[in-house]
Amino acid sequence: MRTIGVATCGGDAPGMNAAIRAITRIACTKNLKVLGFENGWNGLITNAFRHLLPHSVMGILHTGGTILRTSRSLEFRTEEGIKKAAETLANNNVDGLVVIGGNGSFNGALALSKETDTKIIGIPATIDNDVFGTNETIGFDTAVDTAVVAVDKIRDTMVSFKRVFVIEVMGRERGFIAATVGLAVGAEIVLVPEIQFDKNQVFKSIKEKRAKGKRSGIIVAAEGIGDCQKLAQEIEENTGAETRRSVLGYIQRGGNPSARSRLLASLFANKAIELLLNEQGNRVVGLQDGTITSIDLETSCKTEKPLELDLVNLASILTR
Ligand code: F6P
Repeated sequence: MRTIGVATCGGDAPGMNAAIRAITRIACTKNLKVLGFENGWNGLITNAFRHLLPHSVMGILHTGGTILRTSRSLEFRTEEGIKKAAETLANNNVDGLVVIGGNGSFNGALALSKETDTKIIGIPATIDNDVFGTNETIGFDTAVDTAVVAVDKIRDTMVSFKRVFVIEVMGRERGFIAATVGLAVGAEIVLVPEIQFDKNQVFKSIKEKRAKGKRSGIIVAAEGIGDCQKLAQEIEENTGAETRRSVLGYIQRGGNPSARSRLLASLFANKAIELLLNEQGNRVVGLQDGTITSIDLETSCKTEKPLELDLVNLASILTR
């Protein structure tokens, strides 16, 4: 192992920079050359990279986004794109590649691994927390904190107007953010794609609460459940409660990473370099039961991470 590459792919997540910094500094300590590929997979396709040295990653630990930039590369989804990326790795004698990203990125990494001898390690970084093989991804904790702060602000209007709010959080087709935020803000109702819900039950629950004198309320809904604006309208029509929808959107992806996201980034990076120095590839690093570990890349890609449904149940018990 002499030269390694690092790239951030897919949606940016707070803590990606902390991971780039740790990869670079740990690798340099081990006398590895580090190439930072620009714009995610596109940098591998177009041979766009910069040499990273310990001072190149100065002052980025606390910043959101990614200094290497990212993309959702359409070309990388083609055979030709993957071949070009493999050529870039071979032409630059890249022995190991660290891919910092989520599920989509790891599927790309898996496809690339079939075309290259370069050892590939995935570092899970996505606010969605939907990567199998790790209890937590880099950026998830920060996104949850950001959403909780936002909901606490919305609460002021909610209480002042005695309104019901449907607050839509990110997470793609998964409910990790919604379930965690819902519990943390004391939401009356948490809606996640993993649990089928009956709108009539939602109306009933709101009406019962109103009958008991609780006239405002928070519904935290994952974006994956469908049309939250329609849901808000239907709640108003069916319960009489003035209802608004609020989409938290991209603020969840931005901002300074929390201490936890920075810590995970540093520990994951350390594990990634350790694996590469042991000539191991096709692994995804992760946190499992308090231990930094790794699993097979293909297993991570092909297995759906279960959502702890207890979180949603607990949220509903705590709001009674
Ligand atoms: O995967 C992270 C995420 O923010 C999802 O929660 C969201 O559905 C998606 O990315 C949005 O993607 P884009 O940045 O391409 O609009």
